[in-house]
Amino acid sequence: MKKNSSGSGAILEIKNLSVVYRHRVMGRVYAMSDVSLSVNEGEALGIAGESGCGKSTLLKSILRLFNPWEIDSVSGEILYDGCDILKMTPPELRVLRRGGISMIFQHPYAAFNPVIKIGRQLDETIRLYGCRREAHELLETCGLDERIPEMFPHNLSGGQLQRLQFAMALASGARILLADEPTTSLDAISQFEILKLIKKLVEKESLTLLFVSHNLSLIKYLTSRAAVFYGGILVEDAPCGELFKNPLHPYTDALIRCIPRPGRELGVIPGDSPDLSAPASGCPFYSRCSYAGELCLGKVPLMRTYHKVRCFNAGPDEVSEQR
Ligand SMILES: Nc1ncnc2c1ncn2[C@@H]1O[C@H](COP(=O)(O)OP(=O)(O)O)[C@@H](O)[C@H]1O
Ligand SMILES: [Mg+2]
Repeated sequence: MKKNSSGSGAILEIKNLSVVYRHRVMGRVYAMSDVSLSVNEGEALGIAGESGCGKSTLLKSILRLFNPWEIDSVSGEILYDGCDILKMTPPELRVLRRGGISMIFQHPYAAFNPVIKIGRQLDETIRLYGCRREAHELLETCGLDERIPEMFPHNLSGGQLQRLQFAMALASGARILLADEPTTSLDAISQFEILKLIKKLVEKESLTLLFVSHNLSLIKYLTSRAAVFYGGILVEDAPCGELFKNPLHPYTDALIRCIPRPGRELGVIPGDSPDLSAPASGCPFYSRCSYAGELCLGKVPLMRTYHKVRCFNAGPDEVSEQR
């Protein structure tokens, strides 16, 4: 593992990140609260949690992809190679987006200009980012044939466009890929093909991956570590082997029970997602948790160190507590 300037090996270190949106009707929306997470170079990290828990907000924060009018406040630090992304100037942000970190969006049709042929869009990216690889090589790496450049985005399937987003990311020379539910809009076969492609790229191109999905099975297949979010907080963060065998947070446990398995009744999580415009002072999972006690109402538990979990009922901690 390579070491960064602080000697930790982390390519990305998020410290106490909080994001509050400003909404016309709801007022302040506390989408991300006090999240600390680090990602090592070459690591594939899964980001899990139900819709609205803050997964996309996390990725958008890393690339500062916010519209100024939607944001009330962003605090904390996001260190990329030791530099705080939240403090970067516009020229520094452009450098970051050109060759540092690239995003793969959930809806591939929105990622391309509909009236420009694919070849020209790819060539422009190659030229803009000074990529030394040629278009046909990038297309081949991503499993696309040589006729693609002559086509318009509407001529391609969702799976082909998703492959093309990866070719674009390679053309930009990205070291970190942020993939926001890249397979959610695809059919099951294309979904599996894209997962195989991502796996190949992470291994062969030595990329670091943050893979967002509400589907824990995909995270288990693709990543080595998973971070589980609930109501804008990081509730559990552990290597996949450990997390799937021994989930310590009741929410993670409930999510794992929702994975369909032959011969086993499908789990459900009763209740509703928390209202992030009026967050409770205690654990956000309180009202849906069968282990919840008085302690959980008062405050959010601190994060434990080794198998990271924020739950008062997760048993004794062998190591000291940290935020
Ligand atoms: N532009 C915005 N303005 C106000 N609230 C927002 C905005 N974008 C997202 N949210 C809210 O922030 C929370 C987290 O959203 P998001 O990060 O998109 O969740 P996820 O990707 O996990 O579904 C949700 O409650 C969502 O409604
Ligand atoms: Mg999302």
